[in-house]
Amino acid sequence: MKKNYAIAIDGPAASGKSTAAKAVAKRLSFLYIDTGAMYRAFTLWMIENGRDPRSEADAVSLIPGFEMEEDKEGRVFLSGRDVTERVRENDVSRLVSYACAHKAVRERMVEIQREMASRQSVVMDGRDIGTVVLPQADLKVFQVASVEARARRRFLENQKKGIPGTLEEIAEDIERRDYIDSHREHSPLMQAEDAVLLDTSEMTVAQEVDAILKLFLEKVGETWNDMEQ
Ligand code: CDP
Ligand code: CDP
Repeated sequence: MKKNYAIAIDGPAASGKSTAAKAVAKRLSFLYIDTGAMYRAFTLWMIENGRDPRSEADAVSLIPGFEMEEDKEGRVFLSGRDVTERVRENDVSRLVSYACAHKAVRERMVEIQREMASRQSVVMDGRDIGTVVLPQADLKVFQVASVEARARRRFLENQKKGIPGTLEEIAEDIERRDYIDSHREHSPLMQAEDAVLLDTSEMTVAQEVDAILKLFLEKVGETWNDMEQ
């Protein structure tokens, strides 16, 4: 039977995970799954329903009605509505680390993520993929970069997308989120023991993609070649 492969990419905000993960998935013809977008969509769902993302009871009450999908191009749909751009906006960024910290929310998302990974080969990025969601992943990468590099990158990205905010505000947002994500009780952001640390501060996107592809082929080389023939 054909094996499903999994590459797990974790790390702090704006370290370049999704850009690299998307490109790696394309090169290998794997499905890219952006788990951050799932938590962002849930946060938007809470905001739109007038609930407090910090309240566990509010979060739990909205889980049953939460319907989201990600298509192959990485577009995100909430109850059938395209919210890809909307979930990147500042109100969602400010609250997502609270909404996603509740145990029941994480359990539901992990269930969906594992189900997706059981059906095809995937590249999945997030905070707890190597530690919790896919502990058996063929390759785990923990991607980091200096706060300066990450804030600068996100600032340029937001400028292109028309999302307001100064460089200082963005640096503050990513540092605050990293702190909450690393200190929460359930599935905190941390490097899995068997993950490869990749510092992308001085790397271009192309270098990052090459580095991950190389690591993957080193890990699964023989079985991968067999499958390709
Ligand atoms: O793109 P960016 O790094 O800004 O964030 P993201 O990957 O879209 O994730 C947004 C937030 O969702 C993170 O700050 C975490 O609070 C949460 N998240 C999580 O808890 N677990 C994941 N697997 C993915 C995201
Ligand atoms: O997914 P994550 O939040 O870790 O980061 P991202 O959204 O992939 O990257 C944040 C921004 O940095 C994007 O605009 C990327 O194009 C850019 N980037 C970069 O300039 N150089 C890299 N080596 C990686 C990403």
